Amino acid sequence: MKHNIYYDFIDKEYREKVDYYLELIKQYSEETYIHSLETANIALAIAKEMPTLSSSKQELMNIYTAGLLHDVGKVEIDKNILFKNGKLEPHEFEIVKKHPEYSYEILKGQFSDQIVGLCCHHHEKLNGKGYPHNLTETDLSKANRVLTIADITSALIMKRSYKEALDMGAVKKILDSMVESGEIDKSIVNITNNTVLNKANFTKLH
Ligand SMILES: [Fe+2]
Repeated sequence: MKHNIYYDFIDKEYREKVDYYLELIKQYSEETYIHSLETANIALAIAKEMPTLSSSKQELMNIYTAGLLHDVGKVEIDKNILFKNGKLEPHEFEIVKKHPEYSYEILKGQFSDQIVGLCCHHHEKLNGKGYPHNLTETDLSKANRVLTIADITSALIMKRSYKEALDMGAVKKILDSMVESGEIDKSIVNITNNTVLNKANFTKLH
């Protein structure tokens, strides 16, 4: 897959800084870098289908930029833990779970509050079982929900060091089960199914 960066969807004043942090991510891990670009692309594709978001270029730019930068905090995590083959020990998972807060620490003051907030909350779940702040439905904006689903979708689609790539049916099944358990937004999963996860677009993601 070609991994373009759509500078049109990054605020002019942020473009250089985005490049800087993307380079930091790339130096840390090519895999995390590709995941970041892909998450941003998926998030943008979903958001463009949602009138409440697509009517605001600023909103689309925030979502796209947060997609690129959401995992920058991973650069603070020991690679032996992050890319461990096999199941993480509970104390290792606690370390990995710190990365959204590290993203927040790295990005605060550099980017708008909305972008930084989206990065900090990309692992929150509607049922309050996410991290780091156990936010719930009422706290999570549409933009937040889109980024979470884009992140999950990208992680499932891609071959990662610790897992194989999944096919389209398997990705849809997992997203559906997460809707069932109250973790993610059903209407946004439906949009994801109709856009990113349709046959023509899915093959482009590989
Ligand atoms: Fe993450």
